[in-house]
Amino acid sequence: MNTINLNFDCKVLDGNNPELVFGAAECLAETFAGVKIGKFTICEPMAKICKLSKEDMMEFTTNYIKDIVNDGLCVVAVDNDTNKVLGAMACENYNPSRKASFEVKNESINNIFSFLGELDKQFFTIVEKRFGRKIRKNEYVRGSMLGVRTEFNKKYVAQNMLSLVMDQCAEKGFKAFFVEATNFRSQKFNDLYGFYTAKDLQGKPISKKYCDHKIFHQIPEDVALECLLMIKPVENAVVQALCV
Ligand SMILES: CC(C)(COP(=O)(O)OP(=O)(O)OC[C@H]1O[C@@H](n2cnc3c(N)ncnc32)[C@H](O)[C@@H]1OP(=O)(O)O)[C@@H](O)C(=O)NCCC(=O)NCCS
Repeated sequence: MNTINLNFDCKVLDGNNPELVFGAAECLAETFAGVKIGKFTICEPMAKICKLSKEDMMEFTTNYIKDIVNDGLCVVAVDNDTNKVLGAMACENYNPSRKASFEVKNESINNIFSFLGELDKQFFTIVEKRFGRKIRKNEYVRGSMLGVRTEFNKKYVAQNMLSLVMDQCAEKGFKAFFVEATNFRSQKFNDLYGFYTAKDLQGKPISKKYCDHKIFHQIPEDVALECLLMIKPVENAVVQALCV
């Protein structure tokens, strides 16, 4: 096991530091489109199968982070020696009536978000059935994107960012944090750090398989089989209602 001394701090983005916003957008663009760091290539499999370039992703991540940064839930890990953004988590106060302030023209990015949106819809239907009303703003935080660009210990950097996001969730009174975990690596990370798989009314995981999809069936089976809706609770009642 390689252990590298990483000297970094995690910060909440507030939009007043354009360099950090740029760094976060670039980090997510690279780690989704694919970036080689040392011996390893880091990428997100849906973005990879769609052959999205760093530039395609950069346009999206820049607009997206600007759109949600004032929710105070986007976090970066910054190298103390170089000031480089090593990791980023783009998270939003999930608001069913939020309209994005920008248009996504890239068809592949729209395909990805429509796939993830269908998974979210399954989740919201279950939340509605369990709690007897529709999901509202200020209840759930959506962790939309996570990426770490270090050769080793990415989970360690991500764990530190997650901890800061969860502090924000608790401070702001959210019920839970949810993510669409698109691949085995992210699912493993979530398993290790206190996430549960959301369950439907029959107790089956809320998930969408890739094998049935016209594009995503190309994702190699050793990289990912399905996208899972995973929850890290702030309130314990959420676990009882949605994860067992
Ligand atoms: C999600 C993410 C943060 C998880 O980190 P990770 O990939 O598990 O990275 P780590 O550096 O912690 O671990 C890499 C693995 O390589 C292993 N490794 C390290 N050095 C190695 C070496 N020299 N040779 C072989 N394996 C090695 C580690 O032991 C580890 O294995 P493990 O998972 O069994 O512990 C990261 O994959 C990422 O940024 N992905 C890009 C975007 C993405 O998919 N985001 C999630 C969308 S939902």
